[in-house]
Amino acid sequence: MDKAQQDALKKAAGIEAAKLIENGMIAGLGTGSTVRFLVDELGRRVQEEGLQFTGVTTSRRTQEQAEGYGIKIVDIDDVDHIDVCIDGADEVDANFNGIKGGGAALLWEKIVAVNSDKIVWIVDQSKVVDVIGKFPLPVEVIPFGAAHVIERFEKRGYKPVLRLDAEGKPVRTDENNYVVDLHLERIDNPQELALDLITTVGVVEHGLFLNMVDEVIVGDPDGPRKMF
Ligand code: 5RP
Repeated sequence: MDKAQQDALKKAAGIEAAKLIENGMIAGLGTGSTVRFLVDELGRRVQEEGLQFTGVTTSRRTQEQAEGYGIKIVDIDDVDHIDVCIDGADEVDANFNGIKGGGAALLWEKIVAVNSDKIVWIVDQSKVVDVIGKFPLPVEVIPFGAAHVIERFEKRGYKPVLRLDAEGKPVRTDENNYVVDLHLERIDNPQELALDLITTVGVVEHGLFLNMVDEVIVGDPDGPRKMF
């Protein structure tokens, strides 16, 4: 599948998911190229159909895009609930275990997700896998002492790589932390790994989202389909 075909599937999933947003709702808006299509569609509905809803975004990037359409964005601490959070994912298996954080937004994404009544992911078909882990697992790490955390990961055989930007500097998250990608190839026991990562001092959060999502909308050449 080339990029144009993949983008068409992402767009179809984004447009389908936008139907979940109704007047008066508070919506969590994820991050990434698939979510960009979602926000484009929501922006169109705001401008052409008068849709009114409030968004809580999982990154400054999504906030900028949404506000560009006149969508009202508020701070997560200014809402008492979020009706539905729609986000992308890097991989998801049949048990709804997934990897997120390819766009370095995993921390805010997880915070918005756990505070949402319903979580929906939008993905193209290439993201649906038998076993997660081929996609490098992002881990958000505090910069102070990060080299030691990386060394600890190396000793555990996690094959860590500090994520760098185009200029060779460490990528910074919206919370100014680093991202370390673990090249594991396959994750057979995600629960055990999640516990190991979150109890490592210096780790803020990891990109394992285990059985958190309620519904996955998959962009498929035959049209968007839902996994429940
Ligand atoms: C960002 C994410 C994204 O949702 C994930 O990387 C999927 O991105 P895309 O829709 O561009 O494939 O987790 O941190």
